[in-house]
Parts: sequence; C-alpha cells; structure tokens
Amino acid sequence: MSKIRIETLREMKHRGEKIAALTAYDFPTGRILDEALIEVILIGDSAANVIYGYATTLPIGMPEMLYHTKAVAAGVKQALVVADMPFLSYQVSVETAILNAGAFLKAGAEAVKIEGGEPVLETVERLVQLGIPVMGHLGLTPQSVHQFSGTKLQATTEAAQEHLLADARRLEAAGCFSLVLEKIPRELARRVTEALAIPVIGIGAGPDCDGQILVLHDILGMFERKLRFAKRYAEIGQAIRGAAAQYREEVRAGKFPAAEHSYE
Ligand code: KIV
Repeated sequence: MSKIRIETLREMKHRGEKIAALTAYDFPTGRILDEALIEVILIGDSAANVIYGYATTLPIGMPEMLYHTKAVAAGVKQALVVADMPFLSYQVSVETAILNAGAFLKAGAEAVKIEGGEPVLETVERLVQLGIPVMGHLGLTPQSVHQFSGTKLQATTEAAQEHLLADARRLEAAGCFSLVLEKIPRELARRVTEALAIPVIGIGAGPDCDGQILVLHDILGMFERKLRFAKRYAEIGQAIRGAAAQYREEVRAGKFPAAEHSYE
C-alpha cells in the first residue's frame, strides 16, 4: 500500500471506500497498526484516560502529547499520523495554536485535530493557510465534558442538529480536510456525511460515515469501561495478566530461568 495522504482520504470517500482509523500512543502500537494497514492513526488526547488514568482528557498537556506523537511517528510508514491538540493548546489565541500545531508537525505528525465549531474557525483557517492540515471534531467533544454535564449523546434536538450541520459546513469551508463526529444520532451523522465533500469519520455515530475511529485500548480489552459504540476485537488485558501470573509462578517455582536462558 502507498503512503496515505489527506488527498488519499478524499479519494477514498469519492470511491465509497471506508476509512479505518485508530488511536495509538507509542512506537510498537504505531508500527503494528501501520502494518495492519489502518489508514489514519490518531495520537488522541484520550491518552489522558487510557495511558495516564485520568477521568477526563483535560489534564493532558503539550509535553506529554509531543512525546507520544514522536514515539508513534517513529513506528509509522504509511498511515496518516494525526495529533490531537490538547485542552488549552489552541483555544487561547491563534498564535499559540500555530506554535503548538507546528510543534506537532515537527514531532512527526502530518495533521492536527481540533475540537469545536464556530469558536475555532479562525484558528482552523489560519493553520490551513500556513500549510497545517486540520481535522475537525464535533458532537461529543470530550474537552467540553463539564459543559455537557457528562458524556451523553449529543445533538438530540432539531435545533442542535441544525447547529451541528451548520458547524460542519463552516469547518469544511474553513479548510478542514476531514471531520470526526462523536456520539451523535445515526441519522444526523448520515446527513453530515452526505452534505460534506471531506471525509467524515464517526465514533458512536453509526455506520453511514465515511470511516470509523475507536480508541485502541477499547478494542483490545486493555481499558475497563462500557461503551455501547466500541467493540472488543481482542482480550490483551487478560493475555497480559495471564502471562505475568505464569511468569510469577515460574520464578517462584525456580522454573525460570531455565538452562537455555542462562550463560555458561
Ligand atoms: O482522543 C481521542 O482518542 C479522540 C477520538 C476521536 C477517538 O479524539
């Protein structure tokens, strides 16, 4: 497979080919997802939850996100690498957003993701003008968890749905190359997907988007939380527990190291 670029994603949408995206936070998982031909690898600020154990994405900052971006980028050859801009790295001023987005590109990302609609339009426009591709994110934007009073389904009223559709159009006009829609009704996600020329990637937004994204630790069974929209494709947490317990047993029983693991 050849290198995935923002243009490739647009072509995939036009061919009706679905885009598979996942998050990664380190070198080995970046490399493995790349080998699995995942098209988009996002260094999500969900690292705050699944790597650092915080209840929300708010505490993670630029230094941690840059470390994770460098590690993932070192393992990826083909996928498009997108870095999530953490809380307060782009909201304070357009200038700060430019410096922080630029730092992600220097760290190996090929694009950045920003949450929100109207309030971030000027920032999106400026970044795109400067050659920094931006992925938008609407619906349940986790950095607004307190404003939303939790993580419930978003855009459930007609007014909210029209507002989200208008925001999606504005983000496309501002230059976003793609848009993530999180936890919104399926029918609204379908409308947005049809209305936009750019690829729309859903998470908890039904099957009609141009692609899907999930948090890696949710699909691998490495993070205990119940999400209706995520599916477990493996039980890696259980496999690690089993391997560690077996190792402990063997150390205690004097079975490890065996002769073949020792130097004469
Ligand atoms: O931080 C994240 O992982 C995300 C998702 C869209 C999966 O923003």
